[in-house]
Amino acid sequence: MEKKQVFLTRTLHNFALKELKKRYKIEIHSGKIPISKTKLQVKIQNVEGLICFPYDKIDRNLIDNAKNLKVISTYSVGFDHIDIEYAKIKKIRVGHTPEVLTNATADLAISLMLDILRRVSEGDRIIRSGKWLKIYGAYDYVGTDPQGKTLGIFGLGRIGSTLAKRAKSFDMKIIYHSRNPVSKNKEKKLGVKYVSFKKLITQSDIISIHVPHTKETNQLFNMKIFKKMKKTAILINTARGKIINEKDLIIALNKKIIGGAGLDVYELEPINKKHPLTKFENVILAPHVGSSTKETRKKMAEITIKNLNLGINGKKPIYSVGY
Ligand code: DGY
Repeated sequence: MEKKQVFLTRTLHNFALKELKKRYKIEIHSGKIPISKTKLQVKIQNVEGLICFPYDKIDRNLIDNAKNLKVISTYSVGFDHIDIEYAKIKKIRVGHTPEVLTNATADLAISLMLDILRRVSEGDRIIRSGKWLKIYGAYDYVGTDPQGKTLGIFGLGRIGSTLAKRAKSFDMKIIYHSRNPVSKNKEKKLGVKYVSFKKLITQSDIISIHVPHTKETNQLFNMKIFKKMKKTAILINTARGKIINEKDLIIALNKKIIGGAGLDVYELEPINKKHPLTKFENVILAPHVGSSTKETRKKMAEITIKNLNLGINGKKPIYSVGY
């Protein structure tokens, strides 16, 4: 029997490719990343399985062109790059990779928070540029303690909850806002308190975003919100760039309306060294590495393949969205 065809928009770990090759006829895009829409359209015309990444926009048009497509398996927890509703109508399974990247992403949020508070990257830049001239003075390079500060978690799902566990050990006061409050039991266990969105943004010293990018969250953090935040507040985003209005954020930082930001995701990725965000000392920029540890990325590859295997055979992926 002829092997089913699978297209990958970029390569994966060797073990994953080996696994895929045993079962399928695979083709891997090896040119410029991300693959162009025109090329992707041609490449997936006859395939039954597609492995994609957050940078690949899988829209209605593309889905319509892939007549044999049974499954889209994305190597990410986020799936805002895929038209889930349309895939559902077309009975195409969609798999993603939550859980395995929870710790890594929460760890990055904590790293960005501590980095900003203690000015670690800023200090690194000071040394590398030969500007470490003042030693140990009472006012030199002073940062801020996390202890006693209020951490506001926007979205208490898997990653938000794990962040709360981490933050608890820094003796922070933790408040959260989610579409629905979690159970009292869970609140108690995590040591968190549910508040309205308004309270979250006005009371937090640090706000960390852990919601998906949807119509409702698109550009939710804009000037109107920044003006309500504390002047010293720090905004952390390891979710999706489009949840923040970046132009407004730049104005807010310039005018010192908020205190700083730790970002892993951006409206348009990758950003380059001329991006206006790069000029702020009180902003830490990471290159979209929330899930990027060797352990996590390996687990994500395993899940991506499992999701693909199930979906290509008409079954529900282990982690399924939509149909
Ligand atoms: C995801 O998996 O969606 C994350 O953005 C990766 O860091």
